Amino acid sequence: MLRSLLLAASAALLVNAVNDFSSLSCLVESKGVHVPGTVPCNPHEPLQHRLAYGGPDGMMVSWSTHARLDVPTVWYGESPLSLSNEATGYSVTYPTSRVHDNHVKLTGLKPHTKYWYRTSFQNCAGCAYRSTGTFTTARLAGDHNSFSFAFVADLGLMGADGLSTDVGPLGGASAAANPLGPHDKNTMQSLLESKDTFEFVAHGGDELYADYFIKESWQGYFGNNSLIPNMTSVVEGYNSLSEQFYDQMTPLTSTKPYMVAPGNHEANCDNGGTTDVVHNITYTTSICTPGQTNFTGYINHYRMPSDISGGKGNFWYSFDYGLAHFIILDTETDFPEGLQAPDEFGGFDAGANSGPFGYPNEQIKWFEKDLANVNRDITPWILVMQHRPWYIGTPENSSSNVCLTCQLAFEPTMVKYGVDAYFAGHTHLYERNKPTANYVVDPAGLHNPKYPWNIVNGCGGHYDGLDPMNKTLPYYADAGFNAVYGWSRVTVHNYTHLTHDFIASRNGTTLDSATLYKEHKNDGRKGKGGKRGP
Ligand SMILES: *[C@@H]1O[C@H](CO)[C@@H](O)[C@H](O)[C@H]1NC(C)=O
Ligand SMILES: *[C@@H]1O[C@H](CO)[C@@H](O)[C@H](O)[C@H]1NC(C)=O
Ligand SMILES: *[C@@H]1O[C@H](CO)[C@@H](O)[C@H](O)[C@H]1NC(C)=O
Ligand SMILES: *[C@@H]1O[C@H](CO)[C@@H](O)[C@H](O)[C@H]1NC(C)=O
Ligand SMILES: *[C@@H]1O[C@H](CO)[C@@H](O)[C@H](O)[C@H]1NC(C)=O
Ligand SMILES: *[C@@H]1O[C@H](CO)[C@@H](O)[C@H](O)[C@H]1NC(C)=O
Ligand SMILES: *[C@@H]1O[C@H](CO)[C@@H](O)[C@H](O)[C@H]1NC(C)=O
Ligand SMILES: *[C@@H]1O[C@H](CO)[C@@H](O)[C@H](O)[C@H]1NC(C)=O
Ligand SMILES: [Fe+2]
Repeated sequence: MLRSLLLAASAALLVNAVNDFSSLSCLVESKGVHVPGTVPCNPHEPLQHRLAYGGPDGMMVSWSTHARLDVPTVWYGESPLSLSNEATGYSVTYPTSRVHDNHVKLTGLKPHTKYWYRTSFQNCAGCAYRSTGTFTTARLAGDHNSFSFAFVADLGLMGADGLSTDVGPLGGASAAANPLGPHDKNTMQSLLESKDTFEFVAHGGDELYADYFIKESWQGYFGNNSLIPNMTSVVEGYNSLSEQFYDQMTPLTSTKPYMVAPGNHEANCDNGGTTDVVHNITYTTSICTPGQTNFTGYINHYRMPSDISGGKGNFWYSFDYGLAHFIILDTETDFPEGLQAPDEFGGFDAGANSGPFGYPNEQIKWFEKDLANVNRDITPWILVMQHRPWYIGTPENSSSNVCLTCQLAFEPTMVKYGVDAYFAGHTHLYERNKPTANYVVDPAGLHNPKYPWNIVNGCGGHYDGLDPMNKTLPYYADAGFNAVYGWSRVTVHNYTHLTHDFIASRNGTTLDSATLYKEHKNDGRKGKGGKRGP
């Protein structure tokens, strides 16, 4: 049974037996306050709001409902008193999903302008308590003002059924590690409390970690008598944990655009396999239904701006923001021909068996073309975000930690087009590397290097904790630690300076800060930027 339901039971009546995942229980006495991860009694209740930029004049508003909406609608305007504009979209779902994902794109908006919005709330008596949401549209490409964004990766479920002050008591040698300290804030709380210090959030893959359902279950995290999972209970458990994560993120993602990259935990439902050492049962992907594999949830849940950037779904795409051009890459599937992508058939993440999503070489051809089209006078900074790193010092120098095929796939193109910096996660530690290419450190360091700067921050946190780090930092690293959950704040100051800060979630302290100087040709004195070329 799920702990959130148990906790909720003290304040609310449970309609059905809490451990019966196959029936859709709902909380009748929730008094209009949705309990994360539960099925609302009113299936039309709008939940899990998330925003994504759709160009400087567009915003994708997505949310989920347990019932299908015929015409998902968003009302919006520049004042909460007149939500006089209306936009409609569509609703998608897939077998074994409990929800319908609604996507409505607002267009014709003013750049960098605050809007108020509400989503469809028909038949939802309990929805009156919801406040009207707000968001701010993207800065125009070439906007010279300084801005910050948050980068987080490997951020999973927090609280009752995810990372908390406890771990499952039955895990033995494979027990989860690094529970929160009693007074620690988790990464979601830290991001939320700091939300006025950044303009959007980029999540570099590995969200939810709902695929830890089986592991959490056999390790006794839901109670010592949890039943042995079967395909039905795994589907319900996975859905409940996923929805709980999206619910937890809503206070952030309903007001800050949330730009995502695919990670391996979006590919399947059991983290590629786990062995219940208590009952001596090994689970493989055979316990996953199609709706929980091949990035199905990820594909349905989000709408990233690949339509306007020529990318592919939520897998690879780009967008401009002020003085930066952002590119999101897929380190999981769709590598150049001749290279094995980690999550595809035969890849090193056993059992993921996902993709491809494009035609052969589509991602790399797009990457080249996208880079070639950047006007560096307007967006001097090119910043890439992705899931897997290749420069990372871990005691296990395994291909699943150090993605050398990723390096072969993408690094030469990054170097050729002068990518300034790239941010990755996947390994659950923090390492701020020196500008490096092909394992050669740039002698210029952070003072106008030729090679891209790269930072690995997979410290968002989830049930299973952090990864071990090598005692000695690799020669290509400037700083690193693995004992703390955290996120990155990246500030693009102007044409020449960019600062990366590592923020410890537990107390909001900046534990590491470094500034990159790049002599981008146009130093900002040459007039105002306009739109990027085609
Ligand atoms: C669950 O089992 C563990 C290990 O046997 C034990 O330490 C713990 O007290 C048990 N918890 C409950 C609630 O029974
Ligand atoms: C699957 O597990 C659930 C919950 O543990 C249980 O209620 C159900 O009977 C099981 N179904 C099958 C087919 O074993
Ligand atoms: C676990 O099960 C396997 C067969 O699936 C068996 O070979 C092995 O001996 C079992 N281990 C224990 C400790 O019972
Ligand atoms: C995954 O889904 C894509 C389409 O979304 C499909 O082309 C591909 O064949 C699927 N991969 C597997 C392994 O089923
Ligand atoms: C870890 O450190 C040891 C020396 O302390 C070194 O030999 C080894 O190569 C390092 N591993 C990695 C992946 O950097
Ligand atoms: C890590 O392994 C790769 C091969 O998989 C090798 O090329 C590299 O030198 C290794 N790094 C260290 C530090 O041992
Ligand atoms: C750019 O920003 C940095 C950091 O705030 C500052 O030191 C530098 O003077 C700025 N450069 C210009 C040209 O304003
Ligand atoms: C915040 O937490 C970090 C990580 O544990 C610690 O190093 C730092 O000293 C703490 N800062 C304060 C002000 O307590
Ligand atoms: Fe990962």
